Amino acid sequence: MSDTPHKLRTAIFISGRGSNMKAIVEAARSPDFPASIDLIVSNNPDAEGLKFAKLNNIPTYVVPHGNYETREDFETALLGVLAPYEIELICLAGFMRLLTPLFISAYAGRIINIHPSLLPLYKGTNTHQRALDAGEAYTGCSVHYVIPEMDAGDVILQEKVVIEDNDTADTLATKTLAVEHKLYPAAIRIVADHLSQYTHEETSNAETTAQLKKHPFEKSHGGSHMANAPETKSHGNIKDTEIVNSWMMWVRFTTVMKYSVIIIAAILILMALVWL
Ligand code: GRF
Repeated sequence: MSDTPHKLRTAIFISGRGSNMKAIVEAARSPDFPASIDLIVSNNPDAEGLKFAKLNNIPTYVVPHGNYETREDFETALLGVLAPYEIELICLAGFMRLLTPLFISAYAGRIINIHPSLLPLYKGTNTHQRALDAGEAYTGCSVHYVIPEMDAGDVILQEKVVIEDNDTADTLATKTLAVEHKLYPAAIRIVADHLSQYTHEETSNAETTAQLKKHPFEKSHGGSHMANAPETKSHGNIKDTEIVNSWMMWVRFTTVMKYSVIIIAAILILMALVWL
C-alpha cells in the first residue's frame, strides 16, 4: 500500500470570472489538500477563468451549451468529457447551468456548489440585494451538495457576512467573495474526509456495503431517480469494493454447493436404506 494519501480527482465547472476556481486551485497546491484539480470545464468559451486554468497547465474543456438541442444532450457531452479523467468530485464555481438528474445521478453525492447567501435563504440570483431589501443583518455564503432542485442540497459549510448601514449589493458581493475563497477549499476538505470515511467503511465491512452506499444526497433527499445511480467512476477504493463483492459471491456459491452436496448425499442414503 502507498503511504501517499489519495487525492480526490476533481473537476471545476465555471462560466465566468472563476475566482473561486482560482482559490481552489491555489489551495490544492498545499501538499495536505485532499483534492487534485484535474480538469476545468466551462459552458462558455469566453469565460475569463479559462485563461488562468490554461496558464496553470490544467486541462480545460469548453462545452458550449448552445450547441446542444436539449439539456440532456449537453450533459451527455459533459459526461463524455469527464469520463477519461476518472473524476471523483465536481465543484461548481459560478457555473450558470442547472444540471438535471441525468448528470447529477452519475455523480451522486459528489457535486458541490457555492452560493452567495445563507441557504436556505435567498436561493437563485440577486441574493445580496434581496437580503438588503429584506433588512437582514447578515448576508453570507454556503457550500452545498447539488441536487436537482436549485440551491436546495444539504449545506456543507456556510459563513455570515455582516451587513453594515452603508453596504450596497456590490460591496456585499465583494466582501462575500473574499469569504467564499476561504470557505470553498474548507468545504472540499470536509467532503473529502466524508468520502474517504465512506469508502473506507465500505471496503472494510462488506455486509454493510448497501447501507454505506447511501451518499449524503440519498440520505436526506432520497429522490427515486437516485435508486439506480451508476457506481461512481473507478478508482482504487471502488476497485477494492468490487473485489470484496466478488469474494462474497464466491463464498455464497461455495456455501450453496456444500449444502447441495449434503442434501443429495442424504437423499441417496435414504433411498438406499428404503431399497435395502
Ligand atoms: C460567486 O459569487 C458564487 O457564489 C456564485 O457565482 C459567483 C462566481 O464567482 N455561485 P467566480 O466566477 O468564482 O468569481
